[in-house]
Amino acid sequence: MSLLSPVWTALLYLAAAVFFILALRGLSSPRTARRGNLIGAFGALLAVVTVFLSARLENIPWILGAIAVGSAVAAPVARRVKMTQMPQLVALFNGVGGGAAALVALLELAHTGDAWVRVAVAFTLLVGAVSFAGSGITFAKLQELMTTRPVVFRGLPLLMGAVLVTAVGTAIAVVLSASIPVALVLLTLGLVAGVLLVLPVGGADVPIVISLLNAFTGLAVAASGLVLGNVLLVVAGTLVGASGTILTRAMAAAMGRGVAGILFGAFRGGSTAGSTAVSERPVRSSSPEDVAVLLGYAQRVIIVPGYGLAVAQGQHTAAELALALEARGIQVDFAIHPVAGRMPGHMNVLLAEANVPYESLKEMGEINPEFKTADVALVVGANDVVNPAAKTSPGSPIYGMPILEVDHARQVVFLKRSMRPGFAGIENQLMYEPQTTLLFGDAKDSLAKVLGAVKAL
Ligand code: TAP
Repeated sequence: MSLLSPVWTALLYLAAAVFFILALRGLSSPRTARRGNLIGAFGALLAVVTVFLSARLENIPWILGAIAVGSAVAAPVARRVKMTQMPQLVALFNGVGGGAAALVALLELAHTGDAWVRVAVAFTLLVGAVSFAGSGITFAKLQELMTTRPVVFRGLPLLMGAVLVTAVGTAIAVVLSASIPVALVLLTLGLVAGVLLVLPVGGADVPIVISLLNAFTGLAVAASGLVLGNVLLVVAGTLVGASGTILTRAMAAAMGRGVAGILFGAFRGGSTAGSTAVSERPVRSSSPEDVAVLLGYAQRVIIVPGYGLAVAQGQHTAAELALALEARGIQVDFAIHPVAGRMPGHMNVLLAEANVPYESLKEMGEINPEFKTADVALVVGANDVVNPAAKTSPGSPIYGMPILEVDHARQVVFLKRSMRPGFAGIENQLMYEPQTTLLFGDAKDSLAKVLGAVKAL
């Protein structure tokens, strides 16, 4: 017997949907993201409790057991994961969502006589399986369990085309026959398609594909809502599908690439795989004391954080250095590139953790005209996002990506450990220019030494 009337159920689902929308709104700014996350989690909890109170559920101990196992695995993993491994975690959770939607659809196939519901079943099976397998491959790539470079082999486009055409044919057969064995074939084809879709994507593009697969999972979940007759799943799935699509397009635009180029670029040899060879050309390197003098007697300093700052966990030291410089009357800003780091908003989250005021974080469009007035651009563990090759080298894998124009500053200081390139695997000509100085070492150590030297000035 259900404890809630249909009207109360609908009202609670509506409330949960509103919480999901408010959560997305909150997540759109670093200032409100934490609250947005909590609102979303509360909406999900409300939705689950409503299902328990409104539906006539069977196998409740099994359901509770599955929730307990899922929570026991996911909560510690999510707590312990390093910020730099967040994209992998998102890929994993996203894949599990797509897989769950596909399994639900498979089970429901046996219970439905409606042809339209079987259309939704076939869609969920195919898209959910693509998302599950594709997310698994992105996880393996980012975790470096396999090569991060594009994997292409002769006949891959043909094989992909054949799998997709067969999958569409099998989906029609599922709708017409409602046969579980045929549905299992469709599921398998979806898994193969997911693997083939992601294998050719490499390097810097992998996180964008995670976002695309996230949109796929959303669509699969929305379709599973049609299968189960659950309107909240339709709403939540559509929100995930739409936000995943918007994020995919925004990330692709920030890297100056099209989504098709990201998925199929490797077939044309235009993937992001660059060379990781280390150049032997001479560069100008400095001591922490030299850098402290440059900074301490400047009027305007712009700090450019990148992936290396996150790896070194140097955000607190960077924030302290900014305060020490400001105490000397120097204007200090942080320039934020939309794809600095390895996930959207990576630098915002990192610097918010170190209590850098939001007013000091300047978006690319706002800060770029300011570089020409800066005495020093201090590039901390960033590389690709300041590489002028994006503007000047049409053959470069990052050509077309908008960059932070640190080359316009009077002096440029790079804090990095070696001459190794960034994620895109290409050399940065700026490091060899006369106005550039390198301070080699782990970003946190270097920042601490420079901070000490600034305080001693
Ligand atoms: P990268 O170009 O990857 O450069 C990071 C630099 O940090 C490297 O040159 C590395 O040089 C240095 N580094 C690493 N660990 C360090 C440490 N402990 N201390 C000091 N330096 C360290 O980073 P970026 O400029 O932030 O650019 C991000 C890249 O990721 C772009 O290519 C972007 O397209 C890609 N990407 C980003 C996203 C999102 S959404 N953020 C999504 C997809 C792809 P050493 O090894 O010499 O130290």
